[in-house]
Amino acid sequence: MARTLSTRRVFLIGFMGAGKSSVGRALASRLGRQFCDLDQLIEKREGRTVAEIFAEREEAGFRAAETQALEELLQDPAGKGDLVIALGGGTFAQAQNRRALEEAEAITVLLEAPLDELRKRCTADETVRPLAADQERFARLYEERLAAYQMATHKVNTMGKTVEKVAQEIVGILTSMTPESRR
Ligand code: S3P
Repeated sequence: MARTLSTRRVFLIGFMGAGKSSVGRALASRLGRQFCDLDQLIEKREGRTVAEIFAEREEAGFRAAETQALEELLQDPAGKGDLVIALGGGTFAQAQNRRALEEAEAITVLLEAPLDELRKRCTADETVRPLAADQERFARLYEERLAAYQMATHKVNTMGKTVEKVAQEIVGILTSMTPESRR
């Protein structure tokens, strides 16, 4: 029997440094879909960088902008079924955002890695992350968010795997979904 892929939008979630954007791009390319990064969408809507939003409006201001951008994206029928989206590390930790994703029947895939590895990956890449500067806060946030992250519909351990390998595993997950959950 021919296997068909889910037509639902795929959202990658996970902590800072989990690889959401790089895996998202690789996954979108494998699926022939467009890739969208929520942080970039926020920056476009707000006309400022994530770091500037944090500096000017603090975390609460950023969270409001993040929820608005997500809701706008979910309401846009143009992208339905044709998108892979990388969320920010804190997006799925907000109950309101999780509800909106659930109502939109989004597929959420958690990219998992241990704290030390996430630290290393954040240090290695050039993205400015206001919440990654203080190492104690970084560790605290990680612990605080673990339970929320577990509510993702699927989970992939990224440890020791290349971006392409993780993307390939996600394609496997999407392919093996039951017909009912695929729609
Ligand atoms: C955040 C993660 C960042 C970005 C913002 C806040 C967080 O995205 O949304 O700096 O709260 O974890 P990445 O996870 O892509 O770094």
